[in-house]
Amino acid sequence: MNIALVILAAGKGTRMKSDLPKVLHEIAGAPMLVHAMQSGAALDPARVVIVAGHGFDTVKATVADHDPDATVVLQEEQKGTAHAVDAAREALADFEGDVIVLFGDTPFVRPETLARMADARGENAVVVLGFEAADPGKYGRLVMQGNSLEAIVEYADATDEQRAISFCNSGVMLADSKSLFSMIAEIESDNAQEEYYLTDVVGIARDRGLSVTAVACDEEETLGINSRLHLADAEEIFQTRARRALMELGVTMQQPATVMLSHDTVIGRDTIIEPNVYFGPGVTIESGAHIRAFSHLEGCHVSRGAIVGPYARLRPGAELAEDVRIGNFVEIKNATLDEGAKVNHLSYIGDASVGAASNIGAGTVTCNYDGVMKHKTTIGKSAFIGSDTMLVAPVTVGDGAMTASGSVITQDVPAEALALARAKQVNKAGMARKLFELLKSKKVKRDKESV
Ligand code: UD1
Ligand code: MG
Repeated sequence: MNIALVILAAGKGTRMKSDLPKVLHEIAGAPMLVHAMQSGAALDPARVVIVAGHGFDTVKATVADHDPDATVVLQEEQKGTAHAVDAAREALADFEGDVIVLFGDTPFVRPETLARMADARGENAVVVLGFEAADPGKYGRLVMQGNSLEAIVEYADATDEQRAISFCNSGVMLADSKSLFSMIAEIESDNAQEEYYLTDVVGIARDRGLSVTAVACDEEETLGINSRLHLADAEEIFQTRARRALMELGVTMQQPATVMLSHDTVIGRDTIIEPNVYFGPGVTIESGAHIRAFSHLEGCHVSRGAIVGPYARLRPGAELAEDVRIGNFVEIKNATLDEGAKVNHLSYIGDASVGAASNIGAGTVTCNYDGVMKHKTTIGKSAFIGSDTMLVAPVTVGDGAMTASGSVITQDVPAEALALARAKQVNKAGMARKLFELLKSKKVKRDKESV
């Protein structure tokens, strides 16, 4: 089926109490609008049109990042959902096929649900997505007669009898493009809210003798986000779904409710995730890795058999090869660690490459920033970096080389060399005892004076 996706995203979202347009608030690290675009992408749309209004420029930029082929159209004034779809008319003037309308603030409609709507479209001119609402509140009510949808009545315009209906409108609608735009042209705003209601399409289609039906989905899929509370609910729904999906793929989570995932987190089977791990965007973990408690990962790749944490931080560009070990209070940024390399304690490795089987001692720092520019540290294979080494980049440590603990390395270290770069130690016999005595006598004198 040739399909165009239209996502309505012009509303202000007053109840979010935010300077950011509502649809750009994030769930699992991606704007809710992007989640809606991803749902719609399941139908493999030939065109994507986003209707934006409030925060037009920022919405447009976000859409361009995610899908450069999508068109963003402006709905200058928000006069209702039909008026919003109408803003896409020109962009779709040459389009032959169906249009599916989604809301940018309703990001969780499942791809399977949209596929069921597409199936129902075969025998019906218009297909609407409905749900049984636990609390129908102010949702539009679907007036059904058997399988036929007779009308959608907005809460503000509904009679008490209609308000008693619990089958509600999600807002998602599917219809042939040409007939949808021709029906929208007939919609008027003579209702309680003086808005152009997209829902009026149903009555117009019925008047034209067309068949209209509703497909039902879970209420969870139609959660509309209007406030920060809804946003937190949406996050919870997303996280629960994503954790389950990973566990079904063979990932162990000891305490799933404490693991935060991103919209794009990829984790291979037989990987173990301990409690309280945070995955920011762009993380891929291969099979059989082990991510220990309280670790924070974003924009990184962890290979098979690697062990990370507890309390580790992998920042963007951290690339861990097989069997790498990253221990507690270690931060890795824009750095490649080859097979079997170890950074087990209290270190910062940034803008660096570490060769296979090298060992980085506790407290090592790659001093990558000179206050203006970033510089690279290159460490070869099977090198041994002594504890508390400062590697002042740009600097290279060769294969099999060693640095002495406490060294400040400012020059390259050749392969297999030992670099000693610290002050020479001097021991003064008996000096500590004398110093203690002197200090104690000073303290006694001071205590007497202060009485
Ligand atoms: C709409 C439906 C209602 C349904 C409910 C589900 C209509 C008339 N009513 O009501 O039946 O139960 O959604 O949540 O369609 N928007 C624009 N431009 C506008 C108006 C709205 O882009 O001029 C966008 C909003 O940003 C939002 C979506 O359309 O993403 C829905 O608008 P909203 O005002 O929330 O509609 P509801 O009154 O909730
Ligand atoms: Mg709404």
